[in-house]
Amino acid sequence: MNLFRRKSYEDLMTEAQDKSLLKVLGATDITLLGLGIIIGTGIFVLTGIGAAEYAGPGLMLSFVLAAVTCAFICLAYAELASFLPVAGSTYTYAYASLGEFFGWWVGWSLILEYSVGASAVAGGWSAYFCGILHAAGIDLPKVLTAVPAEGGWINLPAVLIVLFATFLLVVGVQASAKVNRLLVFIKIGTIFIFLFLAGPHIQPSHWTPFLPYGIKGVAAGTAVLFFAYLGVDALATTAEEAKNPKRDMPIGIIAALALCTILYIAVCAVMTGVVPYKQLDTAAPASFVLEYIGMRFGSALVGTGALCGLSTVILGMLFAQSRALYSMSRDGLIPMRLYHVHPRFRSPYIIQLIVGVLVACITGFTPIHIVAETCSAGTIFAFLCACVGILLLRKQYPDKPRGFRCPAVKIIAPLGFIFCAFIFSQLSVHTMVLFVVWSLIGFILYAVYGYRHSVLQKQLPGDDPSK
Ligand code: ALA
Repeated sequence: MNLFRRKSYEDLMTEAQDKSLLKVLGATDITLLGLGIIIGTGIFVLTGIGAAEYAGPGLMLSFVLAAVTCAFICLAYAELASFLPVAGSTYTYAYASLGEFFGWWVGWSLILEYSVGASAVAGGWSAYFCGILHAAGIDLPKVLTAVPAEGGWINLPAVLIVLFATFLLVVGVQASAKVNRLLVFIKIGTIFIFLFLAGPHIQPSHWTPFLPYGIKGVAAGTAVLFFAYLGVDALATTAEEAKNPKRDMPIGIIAALALCTILYIAVCAVMTGVVPYKQLDTAAPASFVLEYIGMRFGSALVGTGALCGLSTVILGMLFAQSRALYSMSRDGLIPMRLYHVHPRFRSPYIIQLIVGVLVACITGFTPIHIVAETCSAGTIFAFLCACVGILLLRKQYPDKPRGFRCPAVKIIAPLGFIFCAFIFSQLSVHTMVLFVVWSLIGFILYAVYGYRHSVLQKQLPGDDPSK
């Protein structure tokens, strides 16, 4: 069993020339997709709990630590995406550099990030949605808004938002990009309104003590809110649909990360500056802060903006999941029958529909918080592989053209690896166990199906695909 077989550079370039998916995305679209997929639960939900229970005002440092880690990773991704502009992101890079087994493992882990992540965000969307209806005097019956384990039948709003996002993505990437653009503007606008309304009420005394839980708290906070940065890698899955991937991918990825980080730190500074951190232990901290200073209308406004924000995250994650699976089916690691692009909409509609229904089922019937933490574990594992992959690809293909070269790669990639490994070590034991179990299921599926049906397996005997 050759677990490390790889595709040739020529095969990878042929995939990059694949004309099935429309090449319609520019650098601005990619940045907006990035802001769309990255800014969501992390800032609108987790910041409060992160400050109250883990890091206090020092959560700002947690954001900085997570951002520095992501900056290393993004530099690596920018090079990888410009070198291999192929749908599938880390899956593809791991396949090309570390071989098929790691490619599969990363692809399998990305399901945790994108599908489970999208389900978790849809659950949060439903909670915000019900909260806004409640404020307007409308209460939906619990049986339709809670999963069976929480006393309901189905979380219907969560199911409906996932199915609606799936519909948009099937109808086409251009239509989705337009809706996404609008929602991203509303989301960013909401954040600015929040900063504008709450900013003048900051009391610097609330920032002391700055590190009530010490440096350990900052580290634990980083692991919790790493979720806020999930999605930076998803941008690389759009590479096949970028008009000029060599230029647009690096600009889009790095611009999105920089903008998110600035907004995150600003929001965190305002939240902890206005309200004593211990009182931020709420699932809707932005609304809470505005209520705290007596701005009820602002609170409702921010709630609506959060709904838009969470919608774009769902859209982005479903999109990224379908593109990763699209690549895996093209390689035969999952059934190739799924590798189908709609003749009119030019979207991988079969995979998109399967992903949509799957995510709808998870969010509709599963108490998602039980597995949601593992999203970060899957993502960090993919990041670790990207750090190794970029160095291997530099070695394997030193002279091949790269639109963007990661500066000081021999320092940046190892630093990215060390930072990611550190954050991984801060995750809870329960999360790590779930990740191991998930990986073991993946290994079994690979042995039973993927290895035997892989396109590389079908190549003539004696044909060494790594050459
Ligand atoms: N980064 C995304 C969010 O915070 C997943 O919702």
